[in-house]
Amino acid sequence: MLQSTSHPRQGDKQNSAFFETYLPRLLAERDRSGLTEMIGGIEALMITVEPGNSVEYIAELALMTPYHYLVTLDSARHLTHVLRIDMNSPDILLREVKDASYSDIFRHLNDLYPVGARRPHSRYLGEILRTTNRHEVVALQQQREFRFFPVGQLAELDLPLNVSFSKPSPYTQNMVGYMERPSDGIRVYQHGECVILPTVQAAYERGKEMQERLGIADMILPIDHLATRVYSQNREAALLEYLALSSYYYWGSYDIKDQNSSTNVTKNVRLQPESTSPAKVFTANNQPYCVNHLDLLPSPTETFVRNYGPRLHHIALAVKDGQRNGKEHIDFVVDAITAQGKGFLLDTIGSREEGLKQIFSSASDFSSLIIEYVQRFGDFEGFFTRDNVAQLTFAAGLQEGMGQGS
Ligand SMILES: [Fe+2]
Repeated sequence: MLQSTSHPRQGDKQNSAFFETYLPRLLAERDRSGLTEMIGGIEALMITVEPGNSVEYIAELALMTPYHYLVTLDSARHLTHVLRIDMNSPDILLREVKDASYSDIFRHLNDLYPVGARRPHSRYLGEILRTTNRHEVVALQQQREFRFFPVGQLAELDLPLNVSFSKPSPYTQNMVGYMERPSDGIRVYQHGECVILPTVQAAYERGKEMQERLGIADMILPIDHLATRVYSQNREAALLEYLALSSYYYWGSYDIKDQNSSTNVTKNVRLQPESTSPAKVFTANNQPYCVNHLDLLPSPTETFVRNYGPRLHHIALAVKDGQRNGKEHIDFVVDAITAQGKGFLLDTIGSREEGLKQIFSSASDFSSLIIEYVQRFGDFEGFFTRDNVAQLTFAAGLQEGMGQGS
């Protein structure tokens, strides 16, 4: 039986007595109930964008990531483009709303926040996890008071019918979906009519040809981690909730005192490489905004959440360790992409001696999501150095103010 509680703890962030009491209880009960065995890794990520934005976003992703355009699922209210690397890494389901006036629960979540509302449909919806028995997993989770959309509402929300979706989390506002796939099977989404759109194919080929021409195609690896920002007071609940819904374990939390923030990491319990099932990272301010006026500490994480709502902040892709033309791969990739007019928020930070180098892109004009690149050197297994995270958080905060919340 998988043991979710036997992993060494990393990090220095102090958790509450509540968290330290309930974490082992929650994981032990999850193991005992069979949920840890029945729930696998991340099969797909779901992102929604505004009408007309998916084609150029696919060109951007074709250039900046290893993803390929596979097919489009044409359903009542969305075009859902399936982007894939292979069966060993999660798909991206990129949903474009057909009609700008369309309104659903996901749009309502954006409408609550001043910057999020500027792109009312654009948001990360959540992950779909693989299960061996979808209905049994959902029944067990419902007994544990987790809530799911009824089948009728899935059709109304225009979501794949072979996936069970939780209601959006009160802490992260993301959903978790469950679907089945045989060990040798390909992923199939029961969702509308399957078509290949020439405009999408052309945009994909444009991005991919550029990636090949720049010589960066073999340097950019699958997703390493997904980073979600939540309100300060929801940090521990968001972690416990995700651990209850997934088969991940708690890796540990780092206090980034410079930025009044912490980075909290969960990883897949089967210890598969992140390329197979990315780590899930939760970032939260150390103190809620309502006391900022007393200590005057920087609070970029809480400010982001107040402007956009709790949501995914960035998708981190690994960069293959190595050098070309005397440059680390990450610098080669960033220089090549910058020359195509795509912006980054700062220079690459970190070094071979520190174990890793990282950078944030500017937020995408099409999804508002940031791409992080991370190159680890040798056998370095950490997620960051404290100094890197402080600089990345600060740089992102400069772009995410109310004035420039594009
Ligand atoms: Fe990150």
